[in-house]
Amino acid sequence: MKLENGIKERRSIRKYSEREVTEDTIREILDLSRFSPSWKNTQVVRYHIIKNRDMKEKIAKNCVLSFDFNAKTIVRSNALVIISVVKDTSGYEKDGSFSTSQQDRWEMFDAGIATQTFCLAAHLKGVGSVILGVFDEEKIRQYIDIPENEKVTNLIAIGYPLDQPKSAPPRKSVEEISSFVL
Ligand SMILES: Cc1cc2nc3c(=O)[nH]c(=O)nc-3n(C[C@H](O)[C@H](O)[C@H](O)COP(=O)(O)O)c2cc1C
Repeated sequence: MKLENGIKERRSIRKYSEREVTEDTIREILDLSRFSPSWKNTQVVRYHIIKNRDMKEKIAKNCVLSFDFNAKTIVRSNALVIISVVKDTSGYEKDGSFSTSQQDRWEMFDAGIATQTFCLAAHLKGVGSVILGVFDEEKIRQYIDIPENEKVTNLIAIGYPLDQPKSAPPRKSVEEISSFVL
């Protein structure tokens, strides 16, 4: 797959076939995702993979702030990936002070880059994905053992697409999103 096709053709996929995304395939996706850039190469992003059907159903029922749209996506998914970051590292100097006025927001930045890399790598393997931002971290922690020094940033539901993905939702033009100083 050409990189430009991968970028353009990745879609948020919310309906999945019964075909299993194997642990091996998920490991191949992670093996690409780990090449994501990060703050001073601190590599603070962590991936907690939930394959267990009962656990996915519990998370769907109790951990999405009653947003039924996401609950349905999680139940349909073949696996749910919980993305977290190791706290107090990305954006920090060695003495514990913040490096910039963005303070610890660089850890969200790192998680975003890693998430997009994961989704593109999944797409490369034929696996559909959707980023889920509506979730309840505290409730998730009641079911999944996330280390205390990590913060959950987002979820990614994955599975082989049920249908041929539709064309991309409308995007702003290059003119609308850019300015040049020439
Ligand atoms: C930070 C972030 C949070 C998102 N949260 C959700 C979500 O909670 N539920 C959902 O179905 N899609 C969610 N999405 C997916 C977007 O709706 C989707 O990327 C957008 O509509 C563009 O569609 P595309 O990914 O197919 O290009 C999220 C995307 C991002 C980047």
